[in-house]
Amino acid sequence: MQAWVIGNWKQNPATNNDVNKLLDSLLAVNDTASTSTAQCQLMVAPSCVHLATVSARLQGTSMLCAAQNISAHSDSTGAYTGDCSAQQVADAGATWTILGHSERRQYHRESNDTLISKLCHALTQNLGAVLCVGETQEQYDAQQTFAVLDEQLAVVKDLLTQPVLEGDSSLSLAERLIIAYEPVWAIGTGKVPTVAEVTATHAYIKQTLASFDTSLPEFAVLYGGSVNADNADSFAGSPMINGALVGGAALKSESFMAIAAAFNHAKA
Ligand code: PGA
Repeated sequence: MQAWVIGNWKQNPATNNDVNKLLDSLLAVNDTASTSTAQCQLMVAPSCVHLATVSARLQGTSMLCAAQNISAHSDSTGAYTGDCSAQQVADAGATWTILGHSERRQYHRESNDTLISKLCHALTQNLGAVLCVGETQEQYDAQQTFAVLDEQLAVVKDLLTQPVLEGDSSLSLAERLIIAYEPVWAIGTGKVPTVAEVTATHAYIKQTLASFDTSLPEFAVLYGGSVNADNADSFAGSPMINGALVGGAALKSESFMAIAAAFNHAKA
């Protein structure tokens, strides 16, 4: 399976000028590294206001552009102040969107109902979705990880019954939906689970998805949470880990491309 390395820029960088500088260095490193990242699909997710700039500059390169979120209310237009729809982010050049990041679940109270709407809107507008799941420190300490994942992955089971997938092949869903396992306690903290723990959790996620519909092909499951240039090799070495969702280390081209190179090397 092809590996994915996705940079989640969150609410960064501060200015359009800084966005262009980050792109300058990313594209310079990507140019020299493109043969060494052939097994690895790269994608970056800037904030909404920078989507058009970033996607225009990525045209003609192998790097994709994703939104970090889309409106739950409508896939196109409407009276939803402050929201950006799937249609609008697609028009700005995004081909994917991250959904259900723990920061959105925490600060915006995103529920499974919200996420099922967003997933349907994304697919209606032909956007792929990177659905984030993962347990908090408290849940990890109480050994509730798998129970939390059951609850969060239930949206995929619901999605399978939605009209947007009518007449669609399950193969195409696996091409347009990626799961990112991000333990909340590992995000931005420098703390990481062991590779064995992530491997077991990814196996559980893959089994759970397969149990929803036995005809579904295997979904890509990425790991996210304090991935950096030093630990990427160890995660990339596990066949259950199909890539990385990277926050802090995605804001420097050297570390982002080093992570991409680690996955490329391991999956070649
Ligand atoms: P981090 O963030 O790499 O800075 O831990 C990952 C994420 O939030 O997606």
